[in-house]
Amino acid sequence: MSAVLKNDSQILHAISLGNQSDLDDLMRLRSGLVCNHQINAEIKNDVAKLFRFFELYAYFVYNFSFYVCELFTSLKDDGLKVIIYENLLEELGVSGNQSGGWRSHHGEMYRQFIQSLRQTSIYPTVILPDEISILESKSKKISEHFYSIHRQIIAEEQDSQSLAAFSTIECWVSQQYGLWKNYLSNIGEDFQHIDIRTIDMHCVCDVEHSASLDALLSCQITRANPESIYGIKIGILRGMSASEQMFTDIRELLG
Ligand SMILES: [Fe+2]
Ligand SMILES: [Fe+2]
Repeated sequence: MSAVLKNDSQILHAISLGNQSDLDDLMRLRSGLVCNHQINAEIKNDVAKLFRFFELYAYFVYNFSFYVCELFTSLKDDGLKVIIYENLLEELGVSGNQSGGWRSHHGEMYRQFIQSLRQTSIYPTVILPDEISILESKSKKISEHFYSIHRQIIAEEQDSQSLAAFSTIECWVSQQYGLWKNYLSNIGEDFQHIDIRTIDMHCVCDVEHSASLDALLSCQITRANPESIYGIKIGILRGMSASEQMFTDIRELLG
Protein backbone atom coordinates (compact mmCIF):
# COMPACT_ATOMS: atom_id res chain seq x y z
CA MET A 1 0.00 0.00 0.00
CA SER A 2 2.77 2.41 0.84
CA ALA A 3 3.84 2.90 -2.81
CA VAL A 4 0.60 4.73 -3.56
CA LEU A 5 -0.39 5.96 -0.14
CA LYS A 6 2.79 8.02 -0.06
CA ASN A 7 2.61 8.88 3.56
CA ASP A 8 1.36 6.04 5.73
CA SER A 9 1.11 8.29 8.74
CA GLN A 10 -1.51 10.31 6.86
CA ILE A 11 -3.59 7.18 6.51
CA LEU A 12 -3.20 6.18 10.12
CA HIS A 13 -4.21 9.69 11.01
CA ALA A 14 -7.16 9.44 8.61
CA ILE A 15 -8.84 6.70 10.58
CA SER A 16 -8.84 8.77 13.72
CA LEU A 17 -12.33 8.65 15.12
CA GLY A 18 -14.93 10.90 13.54
CA ASN A 19 -12.73 13.33 11.57
CA GLN A 20 -14.63 14.37 8.41
CA SER A 21 -11.76 16.06 6.52
CA ASP A 22 -9.55 13.00 6.91
CA LEU A 23 -12.35 10.87 5.53
CA ASP A 24 -12.45 13.08 2.42
CA ASP A 25 -8.71 12.46 1.94
CA LEU A 26 -9.21 8.74 2.33
CA MET A 27 -11.99 8.68 -0.26
CA ARG A 28 -9.73 10.47 -2.74
CA LEU A 29 -7.09 7.79 -2.30
CA ARG A 30 -9.46 4.87 -2.98
CA SER A 31 -9.17 4.55 -6.73
CA GLY A 32 -5.48 5.55 -6.87
CA LEU A 33 -4.47 2.44 -5.01
CA VAL A 34 -5.69 0.32 -7.91
CA CYS A 35 -5.32 2.70 -10.84
CA ASN A 36 -1.66 3.32 -9.99
CA HIS A 37 -1.01 -0.36 -9.39
CA GLN A 38 2.14 -1.68 -11.03
CA ILE A 39 0.10 -4.29 -12.91
CA ASN A 40 -1.03 -1.65 -15.41
CA ALA A 41 2.53 -0.85 -16.47
CA GLU A 42 3.23 -4.57 -16.91
CA ILE A 43 0.24 -5.40 -19.11
CA LYS A 44 0.33 -2.19 -21.12
CA ASN A 45 2.77 -3.29 -23.83
CA ASP A 46 2.86 -7.05 -23.35
CA VAL A 47 0.07 -8.91 -25.16
CA ALA A 48 0.75 -12.23 -23.40
CA LYS A 49 0.46 -10.60 -19.99
CA LEU A 50 -2.53 -8.53 -21.09
CA PHE A 51 -4.46 -11.61 -22.26
CA ARG A 52 -3.45 -13.60 -19.17
CA PHE A 53 -4.60 -10.68 -17.07
CA PHE A 54 -8.08 -10.72 -18.66
CA GLU A 55 -8.32 -14.49 -18.03
CA LEU A 56 -7.25 -14.16 -14.38
CA TYR A 57 -9.64 -11.25 -13.75
CA ALA A 58 -12.62 -13.20 -15.14
CA TYR A 59 -14.01 -14.88 -12.01
CA PHE A 60 -13.99 -11.61 -10.15
CA VAL A 61 -16.47 -10.42 -12.80
CA TYR A 62 -18.45 -13.69 -13.00
CA ASN A 63 -19.02 -13.63 -9.22
CA PHE A 64 -19.71 -9.93 -8.82
CA SER A 65 -23.52 -10.18 -8.99
CA PHE A 66 -23.50 -12.79 -6.17
CA TYR A 67 -21.61 -10.32 -4.04
CA VAL A 68 -24.00 -7.44 -4.83
CA CYS A 69 -26.91 -9.74 -3.99
CA GLU A 70 -25.34 -10.67 -0.64
CA LEU A 71 -24.69 -7.01 0.08
CA PHE A 72 -28.30 -6.12 -0.78
CA THR A 73 -29.65 -8.89 1.47
CA SER A 74 -27.49 -7.85 4.41
CA LEU A 75 -28.38 -4.13 4.41
CA LYS A 76 -30.86 -2.99 7.03
CA ASP A 77 -31.45 0.59 5.82
CA ASP A 78 -34.28 0.82 3.24
CA GLY A 79 -32.71 3.83 1.50
CA LEU A 80 -29.49 1.91 0.93
CA LYS A 81 -31.38 -1.19 -0.18
CA VAL A 82 -33.11 0.81 -2.95
CA ILE A 83 -29.80 1.90 -4.48
CA ILE A 84 -28.08 -1.47 -4.18
CA TYR A 85 -31.15 -3.23 -5.58
CA GLU A 86 -30.96 -1.02 -8.69
CA ASN A 87 -27.28 -1.87 -8.97
CA LEU A 88 -28.08 -5.57 -8.64
CA LEU A 89 -30.72 -5.43 -11.40
CA GLU A 90 -28.21 -3.74 -13.65
CA GLU A 91 -25.61 -6.42 -12.91
CA LEU A 92 -28.20 -9.06 -13.81
CA GLY A 93 -28.90 -7.25 -17.08
CA VAL A 94 -32.57 -6.60 -16.42
CA SER A 95 -32.71 -2.85 -15.97
CA GLY A 96 -32.71 0.19 -18.25
CA ASN A 97 -32.06 -0.51 -21.92
CA GLN A 98 -30.36 -3.86 -21.34
CA SER A 99 -32.60 -6.04 -23.49
CA GLY A 100 -30.41 -8.97 -24.38
CA GLY A 101 -31.84 -11.41 -21.80
CA TRP A 102 -29.28 -13.53 -19.96
CA ARG A 103 -26.59 -12.34 -22.35
CA SER A 104 -26.89 -8.90 -20.75
CA HIS A 105 -25.88 -10.30 -17.36
CA HIS A 106 -22.60 -8.49 -16.75
CA GLY A 107 -20.70 -11.67 -15.93
CA GLU A 108 -21.97 -13.25 -19.15
CA MET A 109 -20.98 -10.16 -21.13
CA TYR A 110 -17.46 -10.54 -19.81
CA ARG A 111 -17.57 -14.24 -20.78
CA GLN A 112 -18.50 -13.20 -24.33
CA PHE A 113 -15.56 -10.80 -24.27
CA ILE A 114 -13.22 -13.63 -23.19
CA GLN A 115 -14.62 -15.94 -25.87
CA SER A 116 -13.96 -13.34 -28.56
CA LEU A 117 -10.46 -12.78 -27.18
CA ARG A 118 -9.71 -16.50 -27.46
CA GLN A 119 -10.80 -16.46 -31.09
CA THR A 120 -8.33 -13.79 -32.15
CA SER A 121 -5.34 -14.84 -34.22
CA ILE A 122 -2.91 -13.54 -31.56
CA TYR A 123 -4.41 -15.49 -28.66
CA PRO A 124 -2.95 -18.95 -29.51
CA THR A 125 0.44 -17.37 -30.10
CA VAL A 126 0.61 -16.13 -26.50
CA ILE A 127 -1.54 -18.61 -24.55
CA LEU A 128 -1.34 -22.34 -25.19
CA PRO A 129 -4.58 -24.39 -25.15
CA ASP A 130 -3.46 -26.29 -22.02
CA GLU A 131 -2.92 -23.05 -20.15
CA ILE A 132 -6.56 -21.92 -20.36
CA SER A 133 -7.95 -24.32 -17.74
CA ILE A 134 -5.02 -23.51 -15.42
CA LEU A 135 -5.73 -19.79 -15.74
CA GLU A 136 -9.42 -20.43 -15.06
CA SER A 137 -8.71 -22.34 -11.90
CA LYS A 138 -6.30 -19.65 -10.69
CA SER A 139 -8.86 -16.98 -11.51
CA LYS A 140 -11.43 -18.81 -9.34
CA LYS A 141 -9.02 -18.85 -6.41
CA ILE A 142 -8.23 -15.14 -6.76
CA SER A 143 -11.93 -14.34 -6.85
CA GLU A 144 -12.65 -16.58 -3.83
CA HIS A 145 -9.96 -14.80 -1.85
CA PHE A 146 -11.26 -11.36 -2.81
CA TYR A 147 -14.91 -12.10 -2.02
CA SER A 148 -14.07 -13.89 1.24
CA ILE A 149 -12.78 -10.52 2.50
CA HIS A 150 -15.94 -8.69 1.40
CA ARG A 151 -18.14 -11.50 2.75
CA GLN A 152 -16.50 -11.06 6.14
CA ILE A 153 -17.21 -7.32 6.03
CA ILE A 154 -20.84 -7.98 5.10
CA ALA A 155 -21.15 -10.57 7.89
CA GLU A 156 -20.39 -7.87 10.44
CA GLU A 157 -23.74 -6.28 9.47
CA GLN A 158 -22.73 -2.64 9.67
CA ASP A 159 -24.41 -0.91 6.74
CA SER A 160 -21.98 2.01 6.58
CA GLN A 161 -18.93 -0.21 6.61
CA SER A 162 -20.36 -2.59 3.96
CA LEU A 163 -21.35 0.30 1.73
CA ALA A 164 -17.95 1.97 2.10
CA ALA A 165 -16.19 -1.29 1.20
CA PHE A 166 -18.42 -1.67 -1.88
CA SER A 167 -17.57 1.89 -2.96
CA THR A 168 -13.90 0.91 -3.18
CA ILE A 169 -14.71 -1.39 -6.11
CA GLU A 170 -17.04 0.83 -8.08
CA CYS A 171 -14.62 3.77 -7.97
CA TRP A 172 -11.84 2.08 -9.94
CA VAL A 173 -13.78 -0.09 -12.42
CA SER A 174 -14.61 2.61 -14.97
CA GLN A 175 -11.06 4.04 -14.92
CA GLN A 176 -9.45 0.63 -15.20
CA TYR A 177 -11.66 -0.49 -18.08
CA GLY A 178 -10.74 2.70 -19.95
CA LEU A 179 -7.04 1.91 -19.55
CA TRP A 180 -7.45 -1.73 -20.58
CA LYS A 181 -9.39 -0.76 -23.69
CA ASN A 182 -6.47 1.48 -24.71
CA TYR A 183 -3.98 -1.35 -24.16
CA LEU A 184 -6.17 -3.71 -26.20
CA SER A 185 -6.47 -1.24 -29.06
CA ASN A 186 -2.70 -1.55 -29.57
CA ILE A 187 -2.84 -5.23 -30.55
CA GLY A 188 -3.61 -4.38 -34.18
CA GLU A 189 -6.13 -5.90 -36.61
CA ASP A 190 -7.48 -8.38 -34.05
CA PHE A 191 -8.91 -5.57 -31.94
CA GLN A 192 -11.78 -5.17 -34.45
CA HIS A 193 -12.97 -8.70 -33.68
CA ILE A 194 -13.09 -8.43 -29.90
CA ASP A 195 -16.46 -8.03 -28.22
CA ILE A 196 -15.70 -5.01 -26.05
CA ARG A 197 -19.30 -4.14 -25.12
CA THR A 198 -18.62 -5.00 -21.49
CA ILE A 199 -15.69 -2.58 -21.42
CA ASP A 200 -17.57 0.27 -23.09
CA MET A 201 -20.59 -0.20 -20.87
CA HIS A 202 -18.61 -0.20 -17.61
CA CYS A 203 -16.69 2.92 -18.63
CA VAL A 204 -20.04 4.71 -18.46
CA CYS A 205 -22.21 2.94 -15.90
CA ASP A 206 -19.64 2.64 -13.14
CA VAL A 207 -19.00 6.36 -13.17
CA GLU A 208 -22.70 6.68 -12.29
CA HIS A 209 -22.57 3.83 -9.75
CA SER A 210 -19.58 5.32 -8.03
CA ALA A 211 -21.17 8.78 -7.88
CA SER A 212 -24.43 7.45 -6.43
CA LEU A 213 -22.54 5.38 -3.85
CA ASP A 214 -20.49 8.41 -2.82
CA ALA A 215 -23.69 10.45 -2.51
CA LEU A 216 -25.07 7.71 -0.26
CA LEU A 217 -21.89 7.68 1.81
CA SER A 218 -22.05 11.48 2.20
CA CYS A 219 -25.64 11.10 3.33
CA GLN A 220 -24.59 8.44 5.85
CA ILE A 221 -21.78 10.67 7.03
CA THR A 222 -23.91 13.76 7.63
CA ARG A 223 -26.32 11.88 9.82
CA ALA A 224 -23.78 9.48 11.31
CA ASN A 225 -22.31 9.56 14.75
CA PRO A 226 -18.50 9.47 15.09
CA GLU A 227 -18.51 5.69 15.54
CA SER A 228 -20.28 5.26 12.16
CA ILE A 229 -17.79 7.56 10.45
CA TYR A 230 -15.08 5.35 11.90
CA GLY A 231 -16.93 2.35 10.41
CA ILE A 232 -16.96 4.02 6.99
CA LYS A 233 -13.21 4.63 7.21
CA ILE A 234 -12.56 1.05 8.19
CA GLY A 235 -14.81 -0.14 5.32
CA ILE A 236 -12.86 1.99 2.85
CA LEU A 237 -9.50 0.75 4.12
CA ARG A 238 -10.54 -2.91 4.11
CA GLY A 239 -12.08 -2.58 0.65
CA MET A 240 -9.01 -0.79 -0.73
CA SER A 241 -6.77 -3.45 0.68
CA ALA A 242 -8.88 -6.24 -0.88
CA SER A 243 -8.82 -4.63 -4.34
CA GLU A 244 -5.10 -3.93 -4.16
CA GLN A 245 -4.49 -7.52 -3.05
CA MET A 246 -6.53 -8.92 -5.94
CA PHE A 247 -4.42 -7.07 -8.51
CA THR A 248 -1.26 -8.13 -6.71
CA ASP A 249 -2.49 -11.75 -6.77
CA ILE A 250 -3.13 -11.46 -10.51
CA ARG A 251 0.21 -9.76 -11.15
CA GLU A 252 2.12 -12.57 -9.50
CA LEU A 253 0.63 -15.02 -12.00
CA LEU A 254 1.20 -13.07 -15.21
CA GLY A 255 4.46 -14.87 -15.92
FE1 LIG B 1 -21.17 -4.57 -13.98
FE1 LIG C 1 -21.10 -1.10 -11.12
